Amino acid sequence: MLYKNLIGGEWVGAESGQTFKSISPADTSDIVGEFPASDERDVNRAVEAADRAFKEWGRVPAPRRGEILFKVAREFERQKEDLAKLMTREMGKILNETRGSVQEGIDMTYYMAGEGRRLRGYTTPSELPDKAQYAIRRPIGRIAMITPWNFPFAVPTWKIMPALVGGNTLVWKPATDSPRLAYELIKIMDEQGVPAGVINLVFGSGGKVGVPLAKHPKIDMITFTGSTAVGREIYRYGAEKLNKVHLEMGGKNPIVVLEDANLDLAVEGIIWSAFGTTGQRCTATSRLIIEDGVYEELLERLVGRANKLKLGNGLDEGVDVGPVVNEAQLNKIHQYVGIGLEEGAKLMCGGERVTEGKLAKGYFYRPTIFADVTPGMRIAQEEIFGPVLSVLKAKDYDDAIRIANGVDYGLSSSIYTQDVNKAQRAIVELEAGITYINSGTIGAEVHLPFGGVKGTGNGGREAGEAAIDEYTEWKAVYIDYSGRLQKAQGIE
Ligand code: UN1
Repeated sequence: MLYKNLIGGEWVGAESGQTFKSISPADTSDIVGEFPASDERDVNRAVEAADRAFKEWGRVPAPRRGEILFKVAREFERQKEDLAKLMTREMGKILNETRGSVQEGIDMTYYMAGEGRRLRGYTTPSELPDKAQYAIRRPIGRIAMITPWNFPFAVPTWKIMPALVGGNTLVWKPATDSPRLAYELIKIMDEQGVPAGVINLVFGSGGKVGVPLAKHPKIDMITFTGSTAVGREIYRYGAEKLNKVHLEMGGKNPIVVLEDANLDLAVEGIIWSAFGTTGQRCTATSRLIIEDGVYEELLERLVGRANKLKLGNGLDEGVDVGPVVNEAQLNKIHQYVGIGLEEGAKLMCGGERVTEGKLAKGYFYRPTIFADVTPGMRIAQEEIFGPVLSVLKAKDYDDAIRIANGVDYGLSSSIYTQDVNKAQRAIVELEAGITYINSGTIGAEVHLPFGGVKGTGNGGREAGEAAIDEYTEWKAVYIDYSGRLQKAQGIE
């Protein structure tokens, strides 16, 4: 079936008349849909629509905007199972996880719907008599939004919902690997009463849609989740126009396991964080740093567990790990395995594509563990975004933290220890936007700030109250009721 862009409330094809296909990574003969291959002309129309809609939407009382989001959330809930199945089909992660992924979007939508009745500002006393003053939030304007395929429902809701409750309008370019989920999400929003032009959807490539969208002079803010390389480029486009730019980018997330840790618990958390979602989360664990005394034992147990993980189509019962998203990603992962071998790391398991049976029709890669990795190796430094875990040995707690912090990224992090003092120190010392104690690196909840330091971001945070700050601007209001000219700062 051929799907369309949504521009100004109308479903329309691309000006070019061209299309691209969304293909299931578990079975490449399964076509999930055909979508318009849009370009700058479609982007321009969508931004104009967002611009027209902004004048009214920005003035709709926030509680009313929230009420529409409540309706949307209820419909998401009603369609949860279908959306989850479609997500598994389109981008591969297993059904149990896609259910959680849809739930995350539902949670965010309810959370932000409730913000309609808060959107809190604040009052302060004036330094002068008979003068009132307070701060209120205002919408930013027309927001460009570019999102990845790994969380094709939840991550867009992190951006859409706070942006809309805050009174902004949007133009969205979803990833070309997950257009169908974007279509379903927007179809529900449109049907549940989000007014025409408030959210516009334009399918197509980064070069043809993403770039002109980010560069468009009528765009006031850009929000992006994806690779650090692309994020840097987008930041430059935003800088030209003095746009606010929200960036959520790569990770090389570590789990530290100290000698006193509960190893049973650590094994569970490591396997889930490294190989859940086939390692394709920005929060996935890609480095494991083990204190010397438990290195051999933990490594052996992990390899045993990784070898037992069942690969398969995520729609089938009992499958633990689905495919990676596409051929380019599969090749990139395999290249990194080659790099690891050349660098002298020890391949403990995996390291190859599955070529037998039904799985040969999809992009399946065996869960891979490298041991004896040293901090300078590329497989210890660069984001691979697949089921590859690099294991490093640390002399003690301080060495472990030094290794953990010795990368250009800083999204999620974790430490397993029973020592409350070391756990507390790690919370302060780990350079990351998220730290878990005695749990893996994935699974952030929607009401706490989400984002990272160093190469992961540029200071912004999504989710929770932080998202409201991200998607609104402050206005300070002064009301002088003294009936005379009063001057602040003590001026006579
Ligand atoms: C992502 O991979 O871009 O914390 C988002 C987590 C999820 C979100 C991941 N709640 O793992």
